[in-house]
Amino acid sequence: MNIFIDKYNLSRFYEYVLDESINRIYIITDKIVNKLYIEYLKSYIDNNIETYVYVLPPGEENKTIENVLLIYDDLIQNNIDRQTLIVSFGGGVVGDIAGFVASTYKRGIKYIQIPTTFLSQVDSSIGGKTGFDYKGFKNIIGTFYFPERIFIDVSFLKSLSKREIICGLGEVFKYGLIADYSLFQFIKNNFKNIYDKNLDILMHIVNSSVNIKHNIVSKDKYDKGLRNILNFGHTIGHSIESYYNFSKYNHGEAVILGMMYEFYIALELSLIDKEYFAEVYNTLSFILPPISFTRKEIEDLIHIMKNDKKNIDNNIAFVLPIDKGKVDVFYHINENLIIKALEGDWF
Ligand SMILES: NC(=O)c1ccc[n+]([C@@H]2O[C@H](COP(=O)([O-])OP(=O)(O)OC[C@H]3O[C@@H](n4cnc5c(N)ncnc54)[C@H](O)[C@@H]3O)[C@@H](O)[C@H]2O)c1
Repeated sequence: MNIFIDKYNLSRFYEYVLDESINRIYIITDKIVNKLYIEYLKSYIDNNIETYVYVLPPGEENKTIENVLLIYDDLIQNNIDRQTLIVSFGGGVVGDIAGFVASTYKRGIKYIQIPTTFLSQVDSSIGGKTGFDYKGFKNIIGTFYFPERIFIDVSFLKSLSKREIICGLGEVFKYGLIADYSLFQFIKNNFKNIYDKNLDILMHIVNSSVNIKHNIVSKDKYDKGLRNILNFGHTIGHSIESYYNFSKYNHGEAVILGMMYEFYIALELSLIDKEYFAEVYNTLSFILPPISFTRKEIEDLIHIMKNDKKNIDNNIAFVLPIDKGKVDVFYHINENLIIKALEGDWF
């Protein structure tokens, strides 16, 4: 596994650059990360290495083709060749754009990821998916292109807001619920430490999460089957995110909501028992209480779910829990049950 996890330490990155005899580095970052951490990153790059820094404006609204084109212009202007190393330095937005640029510029140039948000350390930097949003469609254009290495330094998480921590929490809870019940319990028992950004606790969570995602991705690199289980919480979660135009809930929050409604569906189908349901519901609703939707809203949400690319023959794909830390994929969930879950009379 080419993923290195540490705290207050990027020396594995330094060694990699030396070992590969890299003499030019092109860093893609965003304004916030640049301000906070570019000097720290540069302290791991020898002075004799020619270093360029491209700074994107931060945020999802900048994950656009226009920014991709501006980076191509800058690469050409600086005569960046295929021996140069592209370094993606930031959250998931930077990672997705930098990965796309690396996969397309001169038909592919090697790149590494140094993720700086909780979400990007446990999720977006692993799995080789790159891309950008276009005409209101999220991640509609992209490639599979795997970084040579991923260097994770959990000390970057110290400067994240609580909301950004919650965003990553949605995904790490998901890993626990699909593959490792003890991880779920560990997170549940460490809320305070997580919000206080205790780096040893965060490092344990990042480590376990990275192992789970890496394990699933390495068996299904190009998303043909097994990777589907990573979409737990995402069928309903994504519809909520999209219904509110990606502005009311961030991705991790929407996944937390999605997991709760999907747990309820599993309970109604007797796939899980009441105790397991209650344990998970109580934990997730403590971070983010669920909401009741009106009939009209539910119709719109179901319409969005019906357009999900994971569906088969117009049947909405649901990943549902079947036991502690285990899920399966289902395609024939009765629409009335989805409506009942979203109406929320059960909270
Ligand atoms: N490629 C994939 O497999 C994959 C998987 C999941 C999500 N994603 C994508 O990831 C994106 C979301 O990623 P994200 O949550 O990292 O968002 P982000 O990249 O927008 O980062 C969130 C905010 O945190 C700031 N930031 C970054 N590091 C920081 C730090 N250490 N301290 C303080 N602030 C910091 C950023 O400047 C930004 O304002 C979405 O575009 C989503 O589509 C991709």
